[in-house]
Parts: sequence; structure tokens; C-alpha cells
Amino acid sequence: MLQKTSFLLESIEKAPIAELRALQLKRLQSTLAHAYENSPVYRAKFDAARVKLSDVKTLADLSKLPFTTKKDLRDAYPFGMFAVLREQIVRIHASSGTTGKPTVVGYTQNDIDMWSNLVARSIRASGAKPGDLVHISYGYGLFTGGLGAHYGAEKLGLTVVPFGGGQTERQVQLIMDFKPTIIMVTPSYMLAIADEMERQGIDPRKTSLRIGIFGAEPWTNEMRASIEARLNIQAVDIYGLSEVMGPGVANECVETKDGPTIWEDHFYPEIIDPETGAVLPDGEFGELVFTSLTKEALPIIRYRTRDLTRLLPGTARTMRRMEKITGRSDDMMIVRGVNVFPSQIEELILKQAALSAHYQCILSKDGHLDALTVAVETKPGIAIDSEAARAASKALAHDIKTYIGSSAAIELRAEGGVERSAGKAKRVVDLRK
Ligand code: DLL
Repeated sequence: MLQKTSFLLESIEKAPIAELRALQLKRLQSTLAHAYENSPVYRAKFDAARVKLSDVKTLADLSKLPFTTKKDLRDAYPFGMFAVLREQIVRIHASSGTTGKPTVVGYTQNDIDMWSNLVARSIRASGAKPGDLVHISYGYGLFTGGLGAHYGAEKLGLTVVPFGGGQTERQVQLIMDFKPTIIMVTPSYMLAIADEMERQGIDPRKTSLRIGIFGAEPWTNEMRASIEARLNIQAVDIYGLSEVMGPGVANECVETKDGPTIWEDHFYPEIIDPETGAVLPDGEFGELVFTSLTKEALPIIRYRTRDLTRLLPGTARTMRRMEKITGRSDDMMIVRGVNVFPSQIEELILKQAALSAHYQCILSKDGHLDALTVAVETKPGIAIDSEAARAASKALAHDIKTYIGSSAAIELRAEGGVERSAGKAKRVVDLRK
């Protein structure tokens, strides 16, 4: 028998806003008490900031509390921020930073259950139906993508193929043989899988796939349109980060596809000015900050994500949305004083019919000045010295100058000339260091 009940919305998803806010406040107060009582790191931080738990009477009072950063987690490496005994932790994940020690996170059984529920909610919001078969190409292991997606899909009662990343040829074979209706993968790796389909003579528009749930890296609405047309699927955005939980902190609803709905009954979002730390009103751009409302092992208070976006009112659900992430402050390139995000370049590349969405931004020094080179592949069958390719390259350089305000050299590469990743794509290569 198919599990019908889990496909109904949870009542909180459409509850009156006052009910949501009351639940959030109650959960916030108990999270703060739990963090203060059980995590020496939080106790020391709150004491140093001279805030008492009784000072937090409203959701807005959250702004009295200090931020938590990646550095706090690193300093407490490996388990120092946990607010439960190590024996109560049933799972550890870690994200490998570019330098030094990984950031370690932990989960109790209740945390895993909550996470599975939220990923199940996310997959349902993406348009899943009973009987769907889910092919998971997010990496398994310490990365939260694979196991996070896996537990959620199982929770929803779907059939799961835990493929993981890599082995692109075999991915395609199993997609053709098992006929999944949903794929969960980074958008950049989806493109590599589509390329491999074409290489094998398969029309990507004619597979069994109906929905793609894409995240773990920034991708633009132009990329969405391009993937949807190429694969004849609904492309839906899933957002999350290990420090806060993993995938499923927010997910787009397929009926609107207007930016991920934040599952606010479990994570309270704020947008701050990254320079001053001041809380900004909804609708204004800044850095996204999250406070967990139900986590046990690693309550996270005002975590600075470094992701830049803004909060938008709810549409398909009561909960607020975040605008599709345009970039991480870490990925921002400053080219001769102009701020440039890879997503801005992506948007402009996808306007050119002769260019593919495989690209990298390379920063180097030209004397004392910064130089930006955009390495981008032409579409299969279009030679890099062809008329069409040269015209596209010229138009792209022109658009980057006009719309972003920065000069860029365009380096056309043939198919396969830009490094592929089976997970998160590396969009910025900085040769200046
Ligand atoms: O990437 C968790 C995840 C797995 C999310 C699978 C979605 C799907 P981390 O490795 O800790 O966790 O990286 C988190 O990735 O702060 C963002 O900068 C970026 N990111 C994640 N999802 C999106 C998205 C996972 N949908 C960091 N759009 C975050 C843009 C995203 N950026």
C-alpha cells in the first residue's frame, strides 16, 4: 500500500502567521535555555555579551544575542559546541573547508528525525508523488547532501537509489534502466550528466525524469530555464548548510518556484548588514543568519552563513521565502574595485546560444592590477574559432562591461575544457595568491 498521509501538507505549513510566530518564540526560548545550560561555549558567549535569557521576550529580542561563526565551530573542534553528551549523538557530519580543520556537526536521534521530516517536506514541496523513484547523486559520506537527501526521500516513502557522486557513465546507465522520476544533485553536475547522455546518443528530454531538486551551490534562474528546457523537467531549488542542519533548511515550492521557502518552524532567519551586524528589514539585501529552534545536539544561535540574499513574504506557504542566493560573500570577486559574483557572469553566459553553462572565473594579476578571465566552453559542435563562437565571446565581454562594470577577457574552450566536479562546482580560481 502506498503511504498517502505523508503527502499531505503539515498544518503548520499553511497556519496563520500568528500561530507560526508564537510557536517560534516558544521554541526559541527553549533553544536558548538549552544552549545556555548545556553548552559551555554558548554560556560563555551569552555571559560575555551580558544578555540574560529573560531579556528575550520577543522574536526581535534575538538581536541582543551575539552571532555564531564558523570560527566558533573551528575553535571548539571537534565536539566542543555540542550541547548533549557524546553518547547521545547518533551521527557526525563534517564539511571540509579550504584550509585547516573541517567543521564538525552532530545530531541526536531527534535531530535526525527532524531533519528527515524537513527533507521529506522539501521533496514533497518539489512536487513528489507517491510511487516516485529518487536517484540521489549528492555525495554520501561526511558531506550532508547524500545522507540528508536519502533519509528524507525514504521518510516520504519513496524508492531511493543511493548512487552518490561520480561515475557519470554509470549514472546515466542506471537512470536509463531504473527510470527514476526525481533526481537530487548539484545543478552543475546535472549538466555533466546531461552531457554524458548526449554523448551516449540519449535525448535528455526523453528520460523518465520529471523533477530535479538542485542545490548545494548557487545557480541562477537562467540556469534553471536552461536545465528545464534541456531535460524537460521541473528544476526546484533546495538550500541548506551543515552548520545549521544540511539540505532542507529551505526548499522551493513547485507551484511557484519563486525562491526557497524557509522552514521557519525549525529555523528562524534574519538578514543583517554584513559590515555592521545590524538587523535589516524584510526585503533588504544582506547576509543570511539562522537560529535553530528545535535542534538538540548542536543548537545554533544567530549563525552567520555568509550567504547573501533577502527575505520575501510567503506565497505558497505561510513561511517566508529567501530570494535565490546570488552569492556567498566568500565568492565575491573584487576586480579593480568592482564587486563581481560568479552568478552574474553565469546569467550573461546563458544569454549566448553558442556557449554552454560550464564556466570558471579566473583571477590573476596584470602588473599591479586585477585581471578577470572567464573560461567558458562552447556548446558541443561549435568550434571555438567559429564565427558563432567569436561573436558570442565578443557579446559576452561587452555584456560583462555593460551590466557588471568590469572588464573581462573571455577564453573559449572546447567541450570538456573546463574542470568538471561531481559535486559543487569550483567557479572561482584565484591565481593572485
Ligand atoms: O551544501 C548542504 C546541501 C546539500 C544543500 C545538498 C542542498 C543540497 P555545505 O556543504 O555546508 O552544505 O554548504 C553550504 O552551500 O552556505 C551556500 O553557500 C551553498 N548552498 C547550499 N545550497 C544552496 C542553494 C550543503 N540552493 C553552503 N543555492 C551554503 C545557493 C547554496 N547556494
